[in-house]
Amino acid sequence: MQAAANKFQEHLGTVPTATTPEYKHREDGSKMKALAWFGPKDVRMVEAPIPDITEPEDVIVKVTGTTICGSDLHLYHGEIMTLQKGDILGHEFMGVVDRIGPNVKNLKPGQRVVASFQIACGQCEYCKQKLSSFCDRTNNSSLMNYMYGHRDAGFFGYSHLTGGFPGGQAEFVRVPFGEVNLLPIPDNVTDEQSLYLSDVLPTSYHAVVDTGVKEGDVVGVWGLGPIGQCVARWAKIKGASRVIGIDKVPERLAFAREKSGIETLDITEHTDVVKRLQEIAPGGLDVAIDCGSFHDPKTMLHKIQKTLMLETDVSEIHNEMIMSVKKMGRCGIIAAYAGYTNGFNIGALMEKGVRFIGNGQAPVHKWWKEILDEYIIPGKFDPTFMITHRVPIDDMAKLYVAFDQRKGGVEKVFVETKFSNPPAPGCPKTTRVEEWAQ
Ligand SMILES: NC(=O)c1ccc[n+]([C@@H]2O[C@H](COP(=O)([O-])OP(=O)(O)OC[C@H]3O[C@@H](n4cnc5c(N)ncnc54)[C@H](O)[C@@H]3O)[C@@H](O)[C@H]2O)c1
Ligand SMILES: [Zn+2]
Ligand SMILES: [Zn+2]
Repeated sequence: MQAAANKFQEHLGTVPTATTPEYKHREDGSKMKALAWFGPKDVRMVEAPIPDITEPEDVIVKVTGTTICGSDLHLYHGEIMTLQKGDILGHEFMGVVDRIGPNVKNLKPGQRVVASFQIACGQCEYCKQKLSSFCDRTNNSSLMNYMYGHRDAGFFGYSHLTGGFPGGQAEFVRVPFGEVNLLPIPDNVTDEQSLYLSDVLPTSYHAVVDTGVKEGDVVGVWGLGPIGQCVARWAKIKGASRVIGIDKVPERLAFAREKSGIETLDITEHTDVVKRLQEIAPGGLDVAIDCGSFHDPKTMLHKIQKTLMLETDVSEIHNEMIMSVKKMGRCGIIAAYAGYTNGFNIGALMEKGVRFIGNGQAPVHKWWKEILDEYIIPGKFDPTFMITHRVPIDDMAKLYVAFDQRKGGVEKVFVETKFSNPPAPGCPKTTRVEEWAQ
């Protein structure tokens, strides 16, 4: 699939953009550690050239915290098109400003910052509304235009479908339009509290707000990875009367019950999810939010269709959501998808008047300051609840395997580099992946 998609993209050519993914290397030729993609389930630690200022608005960030996301697993499984061998992955990172371009006025070397997973220009019609993930000027993928009619912004470390920018599972990252895409972090906020402003926190918050969770709602959350765990908490903050988390990983179900006090539904115990929800939430859910993944379909029908490439994606969760919400209920899709799915229950969607909302790649810039100022600093939302492990960047390739197989109760991980601060009080200490991923 990758070869064909890359060939097609080559044939289409690239769209002109306001920034380029290629970066200059440091003049002394020095190298950094980074995690690169080489094929499905084949990611490796490599030595890559340290980036230098390439365009006048660039900032080079020395990484002090990075992580792995469920979205990286789509790349790991080769589900996203136009990956190329040697692509540096990672889209959630924070660090210290190392070098700044001549047009950067509001950031200084030494300053602590967190990066948004998307690279926004700051000026287009979408950026003016802080819809940074939809920026029109940073992604050169004509293939995405061809497939979706429009393009997302460029993303860090997320294939050439989103611009081919080297990512943040590395010791240094070049951040185009640095003033736009980096948020300064105040001294009284720890690295563990800041890192997830890159993605997970704005993404989960966006899912809840954009799907319109309100006072008294009964909310179903499909998938209890880091996104689902945060969605459950934001839903409660926004007034949900009940939150029901749905998954199959025993540790994740227990984590949600014990740490966030929500109800859970184990899909291995209740294979007919719709029936079970009708029993425990008679009348239906007000809101359903998809925080799942599509690598491992539940039914043989989808397993076969996916293997035969008759569909790229799977609509099992969506059909369950549409069936489980009340008439005129709301369904939000924050989980990431790539292409097409078969067997989508469009009849139930239409007849029940279901509001089916693609939440998009979350516009981080719209929410990150609000989350920092109104929730993290006043202590109303503590993002560190979801950090289960801390590992060195040398273990990144092993972490892909462990996170993919949900080993050792893993939820969100803080990945340190040689530039990291010591763990903040109460946060996990450094361990090696082989110590807990048996
Ligand atoms: N839209 C965005 O901006 C954005 C940003 C970050 C992540 N995401 C997406 O959000 C999703 C969740 O991310 P994560 O980091 O929590 O991922 P994750 O892979 O850690 O968690 C996904 C969870 O979904 C569960 N699951 C899979 N199939 C299921 C099913 N049929 N029913 C119930 N549960 C099921 C899995 O067991 C797993 O626990 C991913 O698809 C990711 O790509 C989207
Ligand atoms: Zn992510
Ligand atoms: Zn823009």
